[in-house]
Amino acid sequence: MPETSDQKYILAIDQGTTSSRAMVFDHDGHAVSQAQLEHKQIFPRSGWVEHDPMEIWSNTREVIALALNRAEVNRDDLAAVGITNQRETAVVWDKNTGKPVYNAIVWQDTRTARIVHELAGEEGVNRFKEVTGLPLTTYFAGPKVKWILDHVEGAREKAEAGDLLFGTIDTWLLWHMTGATKGGAHVTDVTNASRTLLMNVHTLEWDEDIAREMGIPMSMLPEIRSSSEVYGKGRKRGLLTNVPIAGILGDQQAATFGQACFEKGTAKNTYGTGNFLLVNTGNEALSSDNGLLTTVLYKLGDADPVYALEGSVAVTGSLVQWIRDSIGLISSAKEVEELATKVDDSGGCFVVPAFSGLFAPYWKDDARGAIVGLTRYVNKHHIARAVLEATAYQSAELIDAMNEDAKVPLKELRVDGGMTVNETLMQFQADILGVDVIRPKIIETTALGAAYAAGLAVGFWNSTDDLEKYWDEDVRWTPSMDDKTRERSMRLWRKAVERTFDWVD
Ligand code: G3P
Repeated sequence: MPETSDQKYILAIDQGTTSSRAMVFDHDGHAVSQAQLEHKQIFPRSGWVEHDPMEIWSNTREVIALALNRAEVNRDDLAAVGITNQRETAVVWDKNTGKPVYNAIVWQDTRTARIVHELAGEEGVNRFKEVTGLPLTTYFAGPKVKWILDHVEGAREKAEAGDLLFGTIDTWLLWHMTGATKGGAHVTDVTNASRTLLMNVHTLEWDEDIAREMGIPMSMLPEIRSSSEVYGKGRKRGLLTNVPIAGILGDQQAATFGQACFEKGTAKNTYGTGNFLLVNTGNEALSSDNGLLTTVLYKLGDADPVYALEGSVAVTGSLVQWIRDSIGLISSAKEVEELATKVDDSGGCFVVPAFSGLFAPYWKDDARGAIVGLTRYVNKHHIARAVLEATAYQSAELIDAMNEDAKVPLKELRVDGGMTVNETLMQFQADILGVDVIRPKIIETTALGAAYAAGLAVGFWNSTDDLEKYWDEDVRWTPSMDDKTRERSMRLWRKAVERTFDWVD
C-alpha cells in the first residue's frame, strides 16, 4: 500500500435503480460494512418511470454516514471513494440552485418513443450506431434530456443561457459531493457517457452533430474523463471532506470489473432489476450484427480504453417484484422459488416481461408483456416457474447473440446479483445455456468494481493483476438438460416472444 498506508479503506457508493448503497472495503477486497436505502419508484403514466434526484442524493448521504459508522471508520481512514450507478437515467438541474428542473427519467422509461422514432427517420434505428455503438431506442439518456427541454416550461431557454446541467446519476452525485449549492466537478466517466447516444465511442468525445440534432446545448454536457482518476475531493463541511473521489463506472461495467473480467473474452451476467451480460473485447470496439451494444467497459487513467459487447434485458428481477407488489402472487421475493420448486416445469406456460418494450437482442419499443401457453392445467406454481425461467431464457438469447458475434462460443459464465441466490434459477440457467455457471465468493461485485477503480487511481492497489487474486469461485452449476429438450424449450420461448411484438398502436 504505497503513499496511502494510513488509509486502510475504500468507500464505494452504488446508486442503483431501486436503492442506494454504501460499502466500505479493506485492502483484500472484503466488505467491512454496508448500508442500503430504497427510494421511491414513480410511475406517473403507463411506460413512464421516474426517481426524485433529491431523494437519491439525501439517501446517498445517509448510507455513507451509516456505512462509515458501522465500520467505525472515519473519513481520514479512507484512501478514496468510488461511485457506481444505474446508467442511462437522466437528470437536468439548475446550476445556480442545485435543484432538478424535473424528476430523473429512468432508463426503463419509454416516453421518448416518438423522439427516437423521428430521429431514426428513413435511415432507421441504426442511424447513429457506427458512431455511438448504440441503436436509437428509448433506453438511452440523450433523448430523455431532449424530452425534458421540450416539455418543462422555460427549460430550453435556461439551457441555452447556460444555466442548466445534464448528468447521469454519477455526475449528479459527484457535483453535489464536490461542492455545496453551486456544485463542484461537472464530470462523467467514459462508461456512463457511452450510454447517452451522444458520445463517439471511438474518440470518447461528445458528438456535436448528434447533440445539435437532439437540440441539446453542449454547455449542459459534463466533461468526459476516465473511469479511474481523481475527479475532485469531498466538499468542505461534508461527510467526506478532502477525500479523493477517484473512480466512476456505470454499474454493469463495475460488476464486470469486480468480477475480474480483465482478459479479452471473459464475461459476466448480472441478475438485478434487469439482466446485463458483458463480454470484454479488449481495445477493440467491436460492432454487433446481433442486437448487442458496443460500450466502453473501462478506461484506467491514461491507458487505452477497454471495450465490451453488452446484452441488456430490461426486466428480470423486477418481474419477481411485479408478481409480488402488483399481482400479489407471492409476499416475498424468495417465495417465488418455493412455489417454482413444487413443479418440474412451467406446464407449457411462458411469461415474456416486455414491460419496457424488448431490449436486446430485439430492440422493440412497441412490444408489451404477455403470458402465453395457458391451459386449465396451469396453476400458480407453473406461473412462478415461468417467471424464473423468463430470466434464464432472456439471458440465453444474449449468449446466443454473443456467440454469433464473437464466433467463439462462451465456455462458462460468471454470474452475480441478487437473483443468483436462487438455486433453481441458476440450475435452469446452466441447463438452458449448456455451459457451466459460476458464482464467485464475493458477490458484491458492483460496489467492489467501483472500489477497485478508485483504489487503482490513488495507488491503494497497483494493477489489475493485483485484483485478480481476490476473485475466487464459490458455486458452480453444471448443465444436466439433454440437447433435444433445450432446443425445444428455446424454440417455444422464441415463439412466445414473437407474440409480444407490435403491440402499441
Ligand atoms: O442500464 C441499466 C442498469 O445500469 C441498471 O442496473 O442494477 O440498477 O438495475 P440496476
